[in-house]
Amino acid sequence: MNALQGNDRSILVIEDDRTLARLIVDTLARVGFATACAHSWGEAREALRRHSPALALLDMRLPDAEGLDCIEELAEHCPVIVLTAYGTIHDAVRAMRKGAVEYLTKPLDADKLELAITRALQVMSLRRSYEFCRAQLHPAIGQIMIGRSPAFQEVLRQVESVADTDRTVLIQGESGVGKELVAQSLHQLSSRASHNFVAVDCSTLQGNLFESELFGHERGAFTGAERRKEGLIEVAEHGTAFFDEIGELPAALQPKMLRLLEANRFRRVGGTVDHKTDARFVAASNRDLAEISKEGHFRRDLYYRLAAFVIHVPPLRARRDDIPLIAEHFLEKRNFLRQTQKHFGAAAIECLVDYPWPGNIRELRNIVERAILVSGSAPEIQPRHLALDRAAAGSGDSEHLLDGEPTLEEVKRMYVAQLVESHKGHRAKIAEILGISERNTYRLLKRYGLSER
Ligand SMILES: Nc1ncnc2c1ncn2[C@@H]1O[C@H](COP(=O)(O)OP(=O)(O)OP(=O)(O)O)[C@@H](O)[C@H]1O
Ligand SMILES: [Mg+2]
Repeated sequence: MNALQGNDRSILVIEDDRTLARLIVDTLARVGFATACAHSWGEAREALRRHSPALALLDMRLPDAEGLDCIEELAEHCPVIVLTAYGTIHDAVRAMRKGAVEYLTKPLDADKLELAITRALQVMSLRRSYEFCRAQLHPAIGQIMIGRSPAFQEVLRQVESVADTDRTVLIQGESGVGKELVAQSLHQLSSRASHNFVAVDCSTLQGNLFESELFGHERGAFTGAERRKEGLIEVAEHGTAFFDEIGELPAALQPKMLRLLEANRFRRVGGTVDHKTDARFVAASNRDLAEISKEGHFRRDLYYRLAAFVIHVPPLRARRDDIPLIAEHFLEKRNFLRQTQKHFGAAAIECLVDYPWPGNIRELRNIVERAILVSGSAPEIQPRHLALDRAAAGSGDSEHLLDGEPTLEEVKRMYVAQLVESHKGHRAKIAEILGISERNTYRLLKRYGLSER
């Protein structure tokens, strides 16, 4: 059996006719594919245990199995092209139903073989890019909320109970506790999940610009409004509109927000007619809305409207049982991506559990990231790698903490991580310091797993 690398051009040929198998292998080798041969289903399974081919060619008649019965199992590993005897088109159709991507009839034509393989691999690669782009759009999709503590279980229970309703939900909690993740879960667990989740940060845009961002504008509504533009509310149609930091909503916009939440109606800037929306509303704030509405900074009626269903996400220090779990989760993610194998020492876990976590889960993630880095080649993360006393004192210098001899890449990552921490992730600022474009900074942060969203 030829060696198969887990590369993008490795093909498993499952064919009991040794002469034909040889012929296929030679043909594929000529056009640059690596191959492995299996002459029975037993051998094929054996090969799958050891290698991960990019694609498999499967003969429909094997000595120890019917090809048709093998397709489903095989397709879990890679795309499958079936080889059928001439005149058994009926088999081919059934094979496609079982999940084969293509069929070829014998005698095989070398050009057709190459074409079919190339096409199947292209489809796979496109699908991967698509999955990747989707994940970029909604980085939190697929991110799971971790926690076993009673306090967190209560949050999950509330999320589940209200997710698939049209009720407006207010999420309250300190910075970094996971409010946005809760909002995304509400969306994911609702029947709106296949539509858009649109996050609107109420603290970043002010006045007219914010209004047009949110509600859209008509042509000529203001200088520069050369054509009509849809607002985010329209993008969220049938989906979920998430108003982050709603406590920061400018006073002038609060009545319009109230009208939106109460009557599902809004008007584009410069427009004369009302539009109705079917979006579901979720809002979040790390300021206590009850408090600021008492002080008069936030309209009472808007507050009452939002307070109809409130989910309080407790700070991390109020659910210490969850700390080791979440820390392990972040470490495992890194272990997986960077193919390193690290673990926390018992003393380190104790330190994590005792720390007050003013920045909650976001801070925990940053501390774990930094610990992975400064622990260099050491397999065990220890208290000094966490540098929690420094974190509490607000200083982030970790140069003297390195264990072993880091690679250039590790040093680069550590430096960038430090910049992210000391400049609170401000991309423009970091780009300026590094002397590279914001776009490249963005790529760099992504590569090192340091970008927030
Ligand atoms: N239960 C959890 N399990 C795992 N990761 C979590 C959990 N909760 C939050 N996170 C992660 O912690 C980070 C902060 O969460 P998120 O952005 O949702 O917080 P937030 O409350 O919206 O913060 P802020 O008030 O600063 O906007 C994110 O990376 C998120 O994925
Ligand atoms: Mg947030």
